[in-house]
Parts: sequence; structure tokens; C-alpha cells
Amino acid sequence: MYANIVLVGFMGTGKSTVGRILAARLDLSFLDMDSVIEQRQGRQISEIFAKEGEAFFRSLERQLTIELAAQQGRVIACGGGIVLNADNIRDYSSRSLVVCLRASSQTILDRVRHETHRPLLAVDDKLGRIRSILATRQPLYDAIPHIIDTDGLFAEAVADRVEALYRSGMGG
Ligand code: S3P
Repeated sequence: MYANIVLVGFMGTGKSTVGRILAARLDLSFLDMDSVIEQRQGRQISEIFAKEGEAFFRSLERQLTIELAAQQGRVIACGGGIVLNADNIRDYSSRSLVVCLRASSQTILDRVRHETHRPLLAVDDKLGRIRSILATRQPLYDAIPHIIDTDGLFAEAVADRVEALYRSGMGG
């Protein structure tokens, strides 16, 4: 029996959308790590990045991971950079089902094109930036044991696959 379902993956792969669907279906509570960090800090992620730098944000992310990994009953949508610290994935994996959602650079671009809240994508050449970040992170995402390719799938269908993994770990 898994303590939580933890969704990881690049920005725009549908973690929050799929997470909300799963939480409603499985009667778990949904938690978005970025939102919790914003609430606690009283400011937006983009402001935290701008004023304190990325390393500070990563330390907040690390602390929250330690806290959440010890709890249960949630579907947790992580920020895309959660994989940058292997300790985060190790801690979540010890009790929770960790699933990586994957999408092509083009799909990601289509999803984030009109959004402005992600500091790492606040550039003119979004596709170039997506590709360059993905190039360094891909091995980290690929190392997650459960990966779902979301290209061409509706969020409900992605949720079906995560749910099947979750139920197979329930022992029945
Ligand atoms: C980040 C992804 C964002 C947010 C921050 C950094 C990343 O979360 O944590 O802007 O490094 O990939 P989403 O994946 O929810 O957009």
C-alpha cells in the first residue's frame, strides 16, 4: 500500500491536472508543492527566483519534500525540478508511488506557450529553453521506474494509467 502518489515530470506535462483527477477519484487530498511554497512564502515562485535565487527555492523544495514524504493520503504534484536533488526522489520513493509524466518538447511548448508564471521559461525562445533544460534533465526523469508518455493522451487517460499502477500496489 502506497502512502501517497507523487507526480514528477517537466513543466507542462500535466502533473497538476492529472493529480487533481486522481485525488478526486481515489478520495485522496491533492497538494501542489509550488502552491504550498508560494503560500508559505507569501509570494510567487517567480518572485522567489528573482529575489532569492534558484538555490533558495530548491532548499524550500527539499524541506517540503522531507515533510511530505513522511505523511500519507495525498496526491502530490511536484515542481519540474524536483529530480535535480536525488534525495527528493529517494525520500518519496521509500513509501510512495512515484510516477514521471513525459511529453515531447513540442507538446510542452503548446501547453506553456501562453503562461507567464514559470521563471525558467520567461524567455523569447521558449522551445530552445525547453530543449536545453530537458537535455540535462532527461536522464533524471528517465531514471524514475514508472514513466507515462502523455503525448496525445487526455488527462483522464493519463490518470487511468497512474490509477492502475496505484491499485496494483494495493495488493488487489
Ligand atoms: C520548475 C518547475 C516549476 C516550478 C519552478 C521551477 C523547474 O513547476 O517549480 O518554476 O525547475 O522545472 P511546474 O513543473 O509545476 O511548472
